[in-house]
Amino acid sequence: MFSRLVTRQARQFSTSARAGSDALMVHRNSSHNNPSIPFSLTPENQKIAKQIIAKYPPQYKKAAVIPLLEVAQKQNKNFTSISVMNHVAEILEMPPMRVYEVASFYTMFNREPVGDHFVQICTTTPCMLGGCGSDKIVEAITSHLGVGLGETTPDKKFTLLEVECLGACSNAPMVQINDKFYEDLTPESITSILKDLSAGKQPKTGPHSSRKGSEPDGPLTALTEEPPAPEKIFLAEWR
Ligand code: FES
Repeated sequence: MFSRLVTRQARQFSTSARAGSDALMVHRNSSHNNPSIPFSLTPENQKIAKQIIAKYPPQYKKAAVIPLLEVAQKQNKNFTSISVMNHVAEILEMPPMRVYEVASFYTMFNREPVGDHFVQICTTTPCMLGGCGSDKIVEAITSHLGVGLGETTPDKKFTLLEVECLGACSNAPMVQINDKFYEDLTPESITSILKDLSAGKQPKTGPHSSRKGSEPDGPLTALTEEPPAPEKIFLAEWR
């Protein structure tokens, strides 16, 4: 059973839909996702929405659809339900179908519910090759949580999703959990992060190595000397 869980799932063009933002999906009303489930922005988020909309000319306020969907998704536990999309369409006075098109195009919008901790593991080339490699991180997460890629734990605490580059390649391998990045991971450090989250603790974000940010991990190997003065670089005839 264990080996089944850690087996990497190859992406294919034709496959049955699975839970996850990258799955092809047709909306069908269900008990947890139908337009009769009420959703509206909290007063605090309404203020944020107003500030976002104010950045655009009134006749182009629909351009705020992505940031508004993001605010609404966050409020709805990382889930862009049909009610979330309808509410955003109502605020922006645009046809709901236009909002569905945006939300179903961008993979950052989860059209199925996710766990409290939404773990996105990057497996793009730099993360696959950097440090111990993302395959080992995937293996550590799947064996610790007991779920495969695109699945949610039975207690609904964690959802694991394989994603493309998240822009932290210099600190590979990395994962994003909700809004936070955890970088320079090893199987041990990611397991300890997951344990902390299960225990309700906030683990350290950023690099889990000895380096600061994306500085070199060790002594400099380039640019180790004072750069020469400009007059020593340029030819006399250029001056
Ligand atoms: S390749 Fe993983 S963050 Fe860029």
